[in-house]
Amino acid sequence: MKRARIISTGRYVPEKIVTNDEMTRLVPTSNEWIRERTGILQRHFVDREIGVSDLGYEAAKIALQRAALKPSDIDFIIFATLSPDYMFPGSGCPLQALLGVPGIGALDVRTQCTGFVYGLAVANAFIAAGQYKRILLVGAEVHSTGLEFTERGRHIAVLFGDGAGAAVIEASENGRGVLSTHLHADGRHVKDLWAENPGSRRIPRMYPGILEDGSCYPQMNGREVFKHAVTKFPEVIMEALKANDLSLDDVKLVIPHQANLRISEAVTQRLGLPPEKVFNNIQRYGNTTAASIPIALDEALEMGKIQEGDLVVLASFGSGFTWASAAIRW
Ligand code: ACO
Repeated sequence: MKRARIISTGRYVPEKIVTNDEMTRLVPTSNEWIRERTGILQRHFVDREIGVSDLGYEAAKIALQRAALKPSDIDFIIFATLSPDYMFPGSGCPLQALLGVPGIGALDVRTQCTGFVYGLAVANAFIAAGQYKRILLVGAEVHSTGLEFTERGRHIAVLFGDGAGAAVIEASENGRGVLSTHLHADGRHVKDLWAENPGSRRIPRMYPGILEDGSCYPQMNGREVFKHAVTKFPEVIMEALKANDLSLDDVKLVIPHQANLRISEAVTQRLGLPPEKVFNNIQRYGNTTAASIPIALDEALEMGKIQEGDLVVLASFGSGFTWASAAIRW
């Protein structure tokens, strides 16, 4: 049976670091407030007009180089982001142009925080069906250009960071790779974490008051997000294990979407996992949404936390609400 195997990864974050102290110059906040509620110490922000396709390109170049591959060795691109370069087309197209591989398919995934896991599920299905042999999966976000740096937006502005992660995925037939993926959504919670405008439902889509009413900025019902996240993360991790007749003892590393350190800690506790089995790096990047899992995965690999044969579980929860997991035999 063919399954998708991640053969290499790469990450890229813009150079500019914004510490919590620096954040106090942008919005009325404090290092303590941010640290205590989110665990975040700093994040990276772009410092010029540069899109997610550019960040994704840098991450993809590293992943390709580590696999000793050229862009022309890729058959398909999957790009996960909630902050595309343009309203349309999706960011897979500009990334494909940067890679210089006209003709291959490029698909954008719009499931926000779960974008990388949904993208991995799509890649796995294409590979299992024999449609593609080698897929480039990218998760990237530029949040900083779309946050509201005012008192009204401060509870959200302090959470997010910019960055990209990439994975080269190949067909494997030796049992290594994605064992299963589990994808969920509950659209009743659309308005608990969203950016409403400019949206096509509204006539006219663009209007002068869009900045003043704040509807173009992300809005979050923080308590509702927290409540669902700490339930759905453990549920979807256990679902992945159960589907493969495995237990938490078999897991080498859980890589959760880096939503908020308090969420990760609550999930770790609920599952009774030792903290060293759950990877966290939100402290240095903030919440990078679709990029957070591939950035974390790349760091975990670099740190030697994952070896051949290890069981790794990716898990995510976010806007939609959507939640998802993937069990991977490394
Ligand atoms: N700095 C200082 N004070 C702030 C800030 C800030 N950045 N933001 C809000 N405040 C103030 C508020 O005005 C409020 O003041 P008041 O009590 O005088 O009215 C007080 O702090 C508490 O505000 P809340 O919004 O109620 O903050 P809460 O304590 O609930 O914490 C938080 C907010 C951290 C977002 C929390 O709701 C939470 O952990 N939610 C989980 C959601 C989350 O982390 N999402 C991450 C992104 S989504 C995802 O990836 C799944």
